[in-house]
Amino acid sequence: MTSAEFAIIAAFLKARSGLIIGQDKTYLLETRLAAILRDHKIAGLPALAEQLRQPGASAVKDKVVDAMTTNETSFFRDNNPFDTLRQSIIPGLIDRRAATRSLRIWSAACSTGQEPYSLAMMMKDHFPILAGWRVEIVATDLSPTVLDRAREGIYSTFEVQRGLPIQMLIRHFDQIEPNWQIKRELRQTVNFRPLNLLEDFAVLGQFDIVLCRNVLIYFDQPTKTRILNGITRRIVPDGALMLGGAESVFGLCDGLAGVPGLKGVYSHAKPSKSPFSQTLPLSAAS
Ligand SMILES: C[S@@+](CC[C@H](N)C(=O)[O-])C[C@H]1O[C@@H](n2cnc3c(N)ncnc32)[C@H](O)[C@@H]1O
Repeated sequence: MTSAEFAIIAAFLKARSGLIIGQDKTYLLETRLAAILRDHKIAGLPALAEQLRQPGASAVKDKVVDAMTTNETSFFRDNNPFDTLRQSIIPGLIDRRAATRSLRIWSAACSTGQEPYSLAMMMKDHFPILAGWRVEIVATDLSPTVLDRAREGIYSTFEVQRGLPIQMLIRHFDQIEPNWQIKRELRQTVNFRPLNLLEDFAVLGQFDIVLCRNVLIYFDQPTKTRILNGITRRIVPDGALMLGGAESVFGLCDGLAGVPGLKGVYSHAKPSKSPFSQTLPLSAAS
């Protein structure tokens, strides 16, 4: 493949999904796109580049975007964010929402669903008070393939062994040999929707908590800024954003600032808009 052909594929991916891919990752194109080339009888990456260059939508274009997403995830990934939610953020919101008894949470870039289901399990186990509340967990992703898997909620033994406490497996899953399926009742608490973070997401409304974890790392700086600014507008004045361990708003988004004492948690930067950091039971988090 020539550098010009590589550049066509890279530009296509950046425009459609935000993914930045360097020429040293040609092997990634070869491995991830091999099945598409075979299924659509495309001679190789140069021929694919020619197809991607053509204007208009096509099934091949959609499949290329889907195949190039990295969907690595696990239940209770990194532990710390879920501890912070359980010990600090959710108790604070329960206090502050006592009158409306409603909570909205968005798992942006939810992959195969482990993140929103971890949240749903944790809330069911630790906050029985929420059973009488209107709690909405919206989970979105660009990739239709991972969303189908997430809705189905079926995981292999390997996947459930990664991060999921055994008691939670027993409580929240049905065994369907050789796999495990999230119980229907819990599956119904998560609303999975397709959504590209490069597009306008105002339609989702506003949220008390947004998890946008381990996806910004794939984007360039202007794209991160655009997405973070968009997310800022989706967060209620005393709401919170949680990013992945390798991500930050620093130097990217003036509208958000780190919440002191809560690693990876961000709230509206203007103190007048954000009672968040003052009203959180921060001590519980330490
Ligand atoms: C590495 S996974 C992170 C999953 C989960 N948030 C976690 O931390 O475990 C990244 C996800 O971002 C999704 N993604 C990539 N680009 C996207 C975009 N432009 N809009 C929405 N989702 C995107 C991918 O499909 C993938 O499922």
